[in-house]
Amino acid sequence: MTQSPLTAPASWYSDPSHWPRERAGVFAKSWQFVTHESALPEPRSWRAETLAGYPVLLVRGEDGEVRGFHNVCRHRAGPLVRTEQGVCDGVLVCPYHGWRYALDGRLRAARDFGAAADFDPREYGLFPLNIAPWRGLWFASVAENPAPLAALLAPLELRLADADWSNLRIAARRTHTLACNWKTYVENYLEGYHVPLLHPTLDAEVHSDQYTVTVEGRTALHYAPPRDPMGVYDGLWAWVWPNIGVNVYRRGLMIERMSPLGADRTQLDYLYLMPEGDAVPGETLVMADQVTAEDKWIVERVQENLNSGIYEHGRLSPKHEGAIAAFQTWLREA
Ligand code: FES
Ligand SMILES: [Fe+2]
Repeated sequence: MTQSPLTAPASWYSDPSHWPRERAGVFAKSWQFVTHESALPEPRSWRAETLAGYPVLLVRGEDGEVRGFHNVCRHRAGPLVRTEQGVCDGVLVCPYHGWRYALDGRLRAARDFGAAADFDPREYGLFPLNIAPWRGLWFASVAENPAPLAALLAPLELRLADADWSNLRIAARRTHTLACNWKTYVENYLEGYHVPLLHPTLDAEVHSDQYTVTVEGRTALHYAPPRDPMGVYDGLWAWVWPNIGVNVYRRGLMIERMSPLGADRTQLDYLYLMPEGDAVPGETLVMADQVTAEDKWIVERVQENLNSGIYEHGRLSPKHEGAIAAFQTWLREA
């Protein structure tokens, strides 16, 4: 007989002392989704993102290579760019005091610094970041020796073997802020048990009575057969440890990053990718906004209840919540 595990204790979600530990043990050791290659279309283009409290910068060099750095000036920690995305003129100039960095990270000039016998600019290049591409998506890890990205994504690659993503471009972005711990949202994403009750429009699109979630490696693959072969959903969702969602639509897809803003707030960054020249279909955006609003409502109510002190542990469904059990096991090990 299958067991029904206890849920993780409410304190995991309500006690802010967990956050610094998770930042070091989970986020600093895993791969984080940064952006799609179409955000870096030409030499000298760059994109800045903040990943679980780590401001990072991806920049395409004069040589066409994409490199990743912490978006932190080596002088007194200014940001290297003021906005999220742009094209520079071949150097990154810190807006605070004007230190200039080559696009390979070397410090070219410490503007008007003054003579100092003990200061060697060669020792003050930008902090490099490990980055890796997969199907046009760029990931970053602040770990020194992260496990290979391809191994993490192998279960998805197997499912997507026939899918051609080579002509996809960023077509839209959406951001939502949730008043909950990141794990409250991730666990909601990891099960389809709630779909028939909370998402009537999604339920009308897929056979949620046949919803399955399969854990493979550190991914969770969701599948529910579409009711209408011409509907919005293709019926495939995937989640990748610790906070990435890959939502495949009939046309195009959406990458969802579930970023902690701290212990008690979570930002969802949705990146819609479509074949070049195509806009995201209006019905896709409407459906995603609706499902997000429904999930935001429930996870914020759940968070209030986890904070209330009345609930300590519940139980996980062996039929529907195996991916949550796996997630909680990996958190314990992190
Ligand atoms: S902090 Fe960057 S130049 Fe001073
Ligand atoms: Fe949901």
